[in-house]
Amino acid sequence: MAEFKEISPNASAGAKLTNWFENRFPTAFDAYRVHMSEYYAPKNFNFWYIFGSLALLVLVIQIVTGIFLVMHYKPDAAKAFESVEYIMRDVPWGWLIRYMHSTGASAFFVVVYLHMFRGLLYGSYRKPRELVWIFGCAIFLALMAEAFMGYLLPWGQMSYWGAQVIVNLFAAIPFVGPDLALLIRGDYVVGDATLNRFFSFHVIAVPLVLLGLVVAHLLALHDVGSNNPDGIEIKGPKAPKDAKGKPLDGIPFHPYYTVHDILGVCLFLMAFSAVVFFAPEAGGYFLEYNNFIPADPLVTPAHIAPVWYFTPFYSMLRAITTEMMYALIACVVLAAAFGVLKGRMPAIFKGVVVAAAAVGVALMLAIDAKFWGVVVMGGAVIILFFLPWLDCSPVKSIRYRPSWHKYVYAVFVVNFVILAYLGVQPPSPIGERVSQVGTLFYFGFFLLMPWWSRLGEPKPVPDRVTFAAH
Ligand code: HEM
Repeated sequence: MAEFKEISPNASAGAKLTNWFENRFPTAFDAYRVHMSEYYAPKNFNFWYIFGSLALLVLVIQIVTGIFLVMHYKPDAAKAFESVEYIMRDVPWGWLIRYMHSTGASAFFVVVYLHMFRGLLYGSYRKPRELVWIFGCAIFLALMAEAFMGYLLPWGQMSYWGAQVIVNLFAAIPFVGPDLALLIRGDYVVGDATLNRFFSFHVIAVPLVLLGLVVAHLLALHDVGSNNPDGIEIKGPKAPKDAKGKPLDGIPFHPYYTVHDILGVCLFLMAFSAVVFFAPEAGGYFLEYNNFIPADPLVTPAHIAPVWYFTPFYSMLRAITTEMMYALIACVVLAAAFGVLKGRMPAIFKGVVVAAAAVGVALMLAIDAKFWGVVVMGGAVIILFFLPWLDCSPVKSIRYRPSWHKYVYAVFVVNFVILAYLGVQPPSPIGERVSQVGTLFYFGFFLLMPWWSRLGEPKPVPDRVTFAAH
């Protein structure tokens, strides 16, 4: 048992109460010290560092509004659509709770995409933060599953047909696909069984996984310490420290960054409320117009598009046509030829590379392009897990990389936005070609990173973080 802390009889009532609790629950007080008042964060954080706290805030908003929605929602194919209408029209403040939850879903992705992009800019995924990044990628996957299953629940036309299209994709997997799709749906078409299992996953299973991953993400981050816009370690053995061993370039998270984050929270809540109160559908991007029509298994909407946050990946799926497969085969052959001709490896490994490429090409020719579309779409997310090992730049932060790296990142963002745009548009020959080029660029950016991230002369990295008091 931890030692009892004595307190002077003349201490204030508040101090005595705190002391009473501290002696009975020291772990909570230690956690507060380790993660807040004595967690030293770099003093040069900029606005990019607000999105982690905002992601936490949106997580809380989603959980709280979700709890209230479940009180009135009916997970039954015959009642689900009506129960959402009931929430919107008859439940006191129901419209607010529902719009907060639907806007919260999009806000989550806005915040998380910006949060991830910050990681990319400042090399926050590099040693020693690989696990922080990997937990983040797992959070992103869980978030996608959560959003996808939640979207079925209002049981509108888009809920229904979106789920139908995506679950059918699993059927394209050779051998196990049709059985897997049946297992996911619980029926031969999307129906009541599907709604029930998606509901159960959406309200309990995936949120539990998400919460666990967020805890792991933050604990791992606090073990190694935060990165910063300069990409300089403030806690490492070489980092400057005061007589007590505290980092000279760090400031306690509380109160400095709690105040910083409260500012971010206020700005975020202004934008969030503007959408919730004045444009909850966001022009059909946050709530699709077709979803105000009850699900009808006999009427397929003319154009089925997922919600905006999935569309970059959806575009990549649609880009993989039979014709595109030839381009992908050419890439595999070129990569193998380059590896064999230029790679410094024993002949036996070269043989393995040639054999693997031959098997790959044979499979690409033998299996339908639809399946490879699914592989590409999944691969676009999975590749993020490997980023810590793909980036071989001698410096972490974009600030000290050769200037032209900024343009590469800018093109990456523009390309991602174009893919997102094309994903909401109906298919067209030009759109298809652009999304094919975009898909090749997306994968090229990551797969060629070990090469291009080393190119050019990095700028000198200072010993101390750059900081100007405002
Ligand atoms: C529910 C979703 C998430 C929550 C609540 C969350 C929360 C946080 C918080 C509070 C921080 C510390 C503050 C900050 O640096 O902004 C952080 C840091 C970080 N997060 Fe997340 N995060 C989430 C998703 C992700 C995702 C999807 C990724 C990447 C795939 C990611 C990667 C990182 C990295 C690399 C850091 C360290 C940044 C640095 O020190 O420079 N996070 N996260």
